[in-house]
Amino acid sequence: MYLTKEEERTLNGEDGETLQKAMEILVALGDIYGADSLIPVKSAQIAGVSYKTIGGAGLEWISDLDGKVKVPSILNPAGMDMQRWRDMGIEPDFAEKQVEVIKAYESLGIRSMCTCTPYYLEGFSATYGDHLAWSESSAVSYANSVIGARTNREGGPSALSAALVGKTANYGYHLDENRVPTVSVTVECELTGSDYGALGYLAGKEVGNRVPIFYMASTPSSDNLKALGAAMAASGAVALYHVEDITPEAQKVGFANPEERIVIERSQIDEVYEEVIGGTDDLECDIAAVGCPHCSADELEDIARLLEGKGIEKELWVCTSREVAEKNAELVKRIEQSGAKVLCDTCMVVSPATEGHNCMMVNSGKALAYVPGMCKVAAKIGSLEECINKVGGDN
Ligand code: F3S
Repeated sequence: MYLTKEEERTLNGEDGETLQKAMEILVALGDIYGADSLIPVKSAQIAGVSYKTIGGAGLEWISDLDGKVKVPSILNPAGMDMQRWRDMGIEPDFAEKQVEVIKAYESLGIRSMCTCTPYYLEGFSATYGDHLAWSESSAVSYANSVIGARTNREGGPSALSAALVGKTANYGYHLDENRVPTVSVTVECELTGSDYGALGYLAGKEVGNRVPIFYMASTPSSDNLKALGAAMAASGAVALYHVEDITPEAQKVGFANPEERIVIERSQIDEVYEEVIGGTDDLECDIAAVGCPHCSADELEDIARLLEGKGIEKELWVCTSREVAEKNAELVKRIEQSGAKVLCDTCMVVSPATEGHNCMMVNSGKALAYVPGMCKVAAKIGSLEECINKVGGDN
């Protein structure tokens, strides 16, 4: 891979050990994937934040770094709401370690906003054609597919390296040729709400790591697309998809219909709603969690409306970013009047606080795919309304 004189100097350690390590990671990836050069990135989103997933070894690695990021950089969800972790039942020992992780990232100049929906935040927007180094798989999918920006599915260390250097290796989804759809998915039935998560859960398994183009009877909103992409990235490894006439690249480029075709029917989507993943059919859900990926303002509005006049008897988590919650304080208040908890900085998958429950009802295909394995809690998908009804009763 071609390096400029300045990049060579960094690689040789002349800008310090941290930048040298970062450059080594970028160059190694570039060499493995045949990149021709490094390209500048507009922003970075860094995974490896929850103490539940990175543990002591991860904390030590981050704490040893010394330097400042060169582009706006933000974090993935942490293992707890950084302000109300006690309400979540988080142990003080865990909280202490989680705070250390966030401080270690902050000392590198990274903004301590912990979210998988960075595209909702001020100063963090991405536009068509921007090159990024994002690592959370649903954020990657949204950036590539819904925005038409360009990012590979970075690991935590490679996203952090890109943030420190301000560049990433030019391969994979940064290149036109890897963005062309190779399989088509036709969905002739009408879909609403959580159907998109269920569709993504199914489609991801069939598509694997290829680039699909969808032909759909219904017109998805950006929140629907967020749910579809998140689920496909979890049940498969889809980092980019197109929807004919809807997503920006499909509209601008006008892709041909690939030869390989998959058809998904209503009956298959209905079957996803029947399954209890990681448990038996007789398990009663004792928690419901929505906001995977983190809720938008529109989604908070829907939740507040559906909770009007209802009381939550069991546990209902509504996950969102701190910035979206603060900007929509009135909606948060209306939601919490029911007894539901609006939790920021974290989620039902990366927090240890959901462990110990029997079964979680979710409205997300991604949570359905991850909760059983990562939390050891059975999971079932339902509509937003079903999630609320499962854990609530009338006031
Ligand atoms: Fe975000 Fe957690 Fe889901 S990181 S996409 S809410 S699993």
